[in-house]
Amino acid sequence: MIHQIPWVYVPVRSVLATWLQLIKTEIPELAKCSVLMKQRSKVEETLRAMQRAGAGSLQVISDFDMTLSRFAHNGRRVPTTHNILDNRLLINEDCTRKMRELLDTYYPIEIDASRTAEEKLPLMVEWWTRVHELLIQQRIRRELLAQAVQESGAMLREGYQHFFDRLAERQVPLLIFSAGVGDVLEEVIRQNRVFHPNVHVISNYMDFDCTGVLQAFKGRLIHTFNKHEGALSLAAGLRELRGRRSVLLLGDSLGDLTMADGVEEPRQLLTVGFLNDQVEERKESYVNAFDIVLIRDETMDVPNAVLNFITSPPDAA
Ligand code: C5P
Ligand code: MG
Repeated sequence: MIHQIPWVYVPVRSVLATWLQLIKTEIPELAKCSVLMKQRSKVEETLRAMQRAGAGSLQVISDFDMTLSRFAHNGRRVPTTHNILDNRLLINEDCTRKMRELLDTYYPIEIDASRTAEEKLPLMVEWWTRVHELLIQQRIRRELLAQAVQESGAMLREGYQHFFDRLAERQVPLLIFSAGVGDVLEEVIRQNRVFHPNVHVISNYMDFDCTGVLQAFKGRLIHTFNKHEGALSLAAGLRELRGRRSVLLLGDSLGDLTMADGVEEPRQLLTVGFLNDQVEERKESYVNAFDIVLIRDETMDVPNAVLNFITSPPDAA
């Protein structure tokens, strides 16, 4: 018996190697030097399983700011949905100054690799709450949001059109789960002509009075580090997502990893993390947490390639 083990082991290993090699040739984007994977073989196995399950079992859960939208373009930061509101049409100079001070205080905390999510959590609540209070004081008018988005320089990642269109074609639901401002987010994807019927958004929505003036924010506050609560209370209830246990998750924050917490087990989960800022400081934690990490990649090339692979029948991939 014992002398048979190497005989069995070697062919199995080489078959496995050939099988894994296939992904490398079928998804060459994963071989780019900006792509990091701690467990390449696990990624390849998950991709195979998701491909076998097919588009009918797939859902995509994505963060918005700095994941679907760009982090920077031509060396300049691209505005987040909150920052799009920094427009004289909507807020005054004093509010701009206060919001920027808050950003300068809290954003470094949000991305600080030396603090835990638990430590950051109360500070994030403080940041979001203070900004929302400032915005409410400005009596923002709903009818001006579209113009503010047009004037903002908001940009989705290169290749976004293929991403949204492919999902719509294959009738794969896309859940955009954002701690940004939902009304602004919707306007960005509408103006980019990709707000297809398969897109669902969970975010912080503005509550306007009957004259169209901002008076509050609706529902429970969503910030970067409490997405697991929304995943269980909101995403899990979405009929369109039910029974789809093959999940492609995209995010740019470690907090985004909890966006799939509401998906029933057993599930196949492949996580992709965009590492945009503080790269050296955060690389290790991202590689330990996400299956695939994309370093300073402003494109949707890898998510698109992964999506094409998963949604093509195995023999046609
Ligand atoms: O869509 P996402 O969940 O990424 O939206 C949250 C992002 O918005 C955070 O990463 C944070 O840096 C940013 N933010 C901001 N201004 C605020 C609050 C959050 O730019 N006032
Ligand atoms: Mg984000």
